[in-house]
Amino acid sequence: MRGYRCIACSQTLSTDFRGFVCPSCGGNLDITYDYDAIIDEIEESGTDGARSIFRFAPFLPVSRPDGGFPLRIGKTPLYPAKRLGASLGMRNLYLKDDTVNPSASSKDRASAVAVRRAMDIGADAISVASTGNAGSSLACVAAATGMPAIVFVPESAPVAKLTQALSFGATVLAVRGNYDDAFDLCLEASREFGWFNRSTGYNPFTREGKKVCAYEIWEALDGRAPDRVVVPTGDGNLLSGMWKGWRDLQAVGLIDRPPRLDCAQSESSAAICETLRKLRAVGDDAIDWAKVRVAQVRAESVADSICVDRPRDGLAAVRAVIESGGAAITVPDSEILAAIPEMARQSGIFPEPAAAAPLAALKAMRQDGTVAADELVVCLVSGSGLKDVAGALRATAEPFVINPSIDAVAAALQH
Ligand SMILES: Cc1ncc(COP(=O)(O)O)c(C=O)c1O
Ligand SMILES: [Zn+2]
Repeated sequence: MRGYRCIACSQTLSTDFRGFVCPSCGGNLDITYDYDAIIDEIEESGTDGARSIFRFAPFLPVSRPDGGFPLRIGKTPLYPAKRLGASLGMRNLYLKDDTVNPSASSKDRASAVAVRRAMDIGADAISVASTGNAGSSLACVAAATGMPAIVFVPESAPVAKLTQALSFGATVLAVRGNYDDAFDLCLEASREFGWFNRSTGYNPFTREGKKVCAYEIWEALDGRAPDRVVVPTGDGNLLSGMWKGWRDLQAVGLIDRPPRLDCAQSESSAAICETLRKLRAVGDDAIDWAKVRVAQVRAESVADSICVDRPRDGLAAVRAVIESGGAAITVPDSEILAAIPEMARQSGIFPEPAAAAPLAALKAMRQDGTVAADELVVCLVSGSGLKDVAGALRATAEPFVINPSIDAVAAALQH
């Protein structure tokens, strides 16, 4: 780690900086690296065989855990989705199955790096605002490492996510309000009580955890980059992290060109796509990033994990889509819900609504010709369907309720 650079105004800061956002303009910070030192380290020791994201330690801004990390975070499978791909007329579709992380979402990647950072600087407790997954994830990783965690969620968070956080022993504060209210309260309380605030986007270390997903895709494709990665997007941190990962690989000479990153949002929670459309209407070429304002919306979506009024890593996400040449796709909630059983039936992977959004977006991109049949496309499946069973149930048929008789079985089979 070399220091920080503001994503909006480009101000640089040294590694001694202990704040979270740019002291000049309030923008989010990007962690910078000495890539020559990383290259030397990889040549010397390689990426070791540890079972977690810390095998990519040379690329991470935190100390390597002694004796390994206590949970297997990351190293998730990249599956060729042959049947699902065929249904879309595609030959090279892959699913990156992040549902198998310890708390069943991509958020564990960010929690692992944030918790390591909290330990590195001697923090006593770590806090987070969350639509649900970041909270259950932080609670999980904190439990494994013995760090107290305080989780702020909107009162309406899906019960499975709340139950995870409670079971892992976090202090769970269900705020009467939406995610944005929980976010602001977490910010204030963390300052007041001196907690290390892991909140997505605001904390620059979360992006560094998410980026490892790109390295794993690269590794699973035998050192190649795909043509596209389709990323479900709320705050935009998953997207900006994915972009950081590919840019790291390019910076150390491991890939020639990064993939396009496509931003998949619900049309009723589309702040980042809206910003991208406005910027593209005036032309991408001469954007002054210090002047760009990310749109705010009144978000209302069944995909709770990507239901965000004010994206907390919006500017970095917008830059990722533009710099990678990706697309901004909004899909109706009905298509997001329909994509849950569609993915599940044709791949064996059960996504929560947000994690089904990339499939809905990819279908739209196939229909309008944005994506060609032979492109190598990865959809990020960022969270498990078990986290929001009520959402999935809205898109499936009811079971047959039958008497315990063979005639009833036969009658049910007639339907
Ligand atoms: C399952 C899932 N998918 C996608 C996202 C979107 O990530 P971000 O808010 O960084 O855009 C989240 C964030 O909560 C999530 O939990
Ligand atoms: Zn700044």
